[in-house]
Amino acid sequence: MNNITFTMIKPDAVRAGHTGNIIQHITNAGFKIRAMKLTQLTRAKAGEFYEIHKERPFYGELVDFMSSGPIVAVILEKSNAVEDFRTLIGATNPAEAAEGTIRALYATSIGENAVHGADSDENALREGRFHFAGTEIF
Ligand code: CMP
Repeated sequence: MNNITFTMIKPDAVRAGHTGNIIQHITNAGFKIRAMKLTQLTRAKAGEFYEIHKERPFYGELVDFMSSGPIVAVILEKSNAVEDFRTLIGATNPAEAAEGTIRALYATSIGENAVHGADSDENALREGRFHFAGTEIF
């Protein structure tokens, strides 16, 4: 299945009031919203979501930041969703993100980089289930 991806609008972008513009940018690029909710991760849930990075030096900072305020979790549908979405958001470090990408427009640093994008079809499903398990979507 290569038509689903998962994103979160991160606490920096929600706090700054960029949610509406980011959603519009995503839908203008041809993605359909399959599920969406405003929520907030506990430290424990943020730690679980980013478990894959737990040995990285920035893990503590990442978990603190991702649980610091509301996020918007979204399941998106489009052909070639994972790859096309990663192109749309730009490089992890906004200083390296291509002009016009979501991170170039809204991110402030490598940690506070406005949006998350799943990096594989498998992770898109895992991450979508993480946030929407028990709903009609999963
Ligand atoms: P994301 O796509 O959500 O996946 C992992 C996140 O770790 C990444 O975006 C960054 O926000 C964060 N990250 C990666 N490298 C660093 C770093 N050097 N310092 C702080 N956060 C980082």
